Amino acid sequence: MSENCVSVVIVLIYFNNAATSFPKPKSVIKAVQGYLTSAGFSLGRGTTTTQSTGDIIQGTRTLLAEMFNGTPSRVILTQNATLALNLAIHGFLKKGDHVITSEMEHNSILRPLNFLQKRHGVEVTIVKCSTDGFVNPGDVELAIKENTTMICLTHASNVIGSIQPITAVGQIAQKRGIVFLVDSAQSAGVLPIDMKTMGIDLLAFTGHKSLMGPQGTGGLVLKEGMEEKLIPTVQGGTGIISDEPNHEDLPLPDKYEAGTHNCHGIAGLKAGIEFIRKTGMEKIRKHEASLTGQLLDGLRDKEGVHLYGPSDPSRQLPVVSMNLDAFPPDELGFILDKSFEVISRTGLHCAPLTHKRIGSYPLGGTVRLSPGYFNTPDEVERVLEIIERIRNV
Ligand SMILES: Cc1ncc(COP(=O)(O)O)c(C=O)c1O
Repeated sequence: MSENCVSVVIVLIYFNNAATSFPKPKSVIKAVQGYLTSAGFSLGRGTTTTQSTGDIIQGTRTLLAEMFNGTPSRVILTQNATLALNLAIHGFLKKGDHVITSEMEHNSILRPLNFLQKRHGVEVTIVKCSTDGFVNPGDVELAIKENTTMICLTHASNVIGSIQPITAVGQIAQKRGIVFLVDSAQSAGVLPIDMKTMGIDLLAFTGHKSLMGPQGTGGLVLKEGMEEKLIPTVQGGTGIISDEPNHEDLPLPDKYEAGTHNCHGIAGLKAGIEFIRKTGMEKIRKHEASLTGQLLDGLRDKEGVHLYGPSDPSRQLPVVSMNLDAFPPDELGFILDKSFEVISRTGLHCAPLTHKRIGSYPLGGTVRLSPGYFNTPDEVERVLEIIERIRNV
């Protein structure tokens, strides 16, 4: 663990960064604390000056817009990626539309789509993936129909880390005039994302994973013009233009936001993005890829060990799914935690179709090991030794 992060009193190895990154950089903790102990005002809702809150929120939108090549007023702040995806899906799709998605998706895409299919007559096609977790852009193109209005794809699987061919699919979507929604919950902050060159119309992100911010932060970035096509899914107070009865007539970004912001969380998110900029995304990616390679090399070709996904750090994020013969995933995760203080995540990871595709569904899923920027090669070595001990029991 590096000196940039707070030291954790208990000696544990946290390999669950795909769920939420931990620990957070010191600067993130300082920013949250600083906000709560000094300028903890609500934006636009008080007689006292709320300039500093406004600067933090505006500054965060600007940093996110720079990171994704968008515009600050089209960065809609939400509580997480789930709400951002719900805004995109419920705000855009209507009866009779056809939407294409893939087997690699998280329930935060699959469940809203299933809901719209069941209740509102939206047609859904789920494109098959390869057993190592990749969507074929040609299959997406083949699934397009006359009424296809949206393609929804995750940038990287949260089960096996496979990085999807976003630019190729974006080109197809652009060529056919179809809105392209990308779920960057796993990738934002560690993989470069350029909405313009990748052909992305709507980009959902979360703040608490690779963007290193606190939980309760995230958002949806709109390509210019999408505000004409997307209906707001929340309405309420915004602190401005209170005599406007129609929320959808408010200017951006208020059109899609309502209620008091998670200001201290956003202050932490801003510090998280600043940490990434200072450190360098490439350096973060390189370190994480190196840990992934070390983990995969240590597990590969071991009797009784089953690895899923690309098994190649250049084609995946640091998300490694495995099983060990003779241990159901939950049991192995329990042993790792209770006997060795290694934190993983077991089960279906909110992505049941992925497990069906990779073959781990009947086993109850996998044990997912996901190191992050603050993990070290020594920690990977220790986890490998522990798995070796369990394997030889
Ligand atoms: C691929 C993917 N999409 C969406 C989400 C939902 O993110 P959040 O918890 O921020 O709503 C996750 C979270 O694990 C994820 O991994």
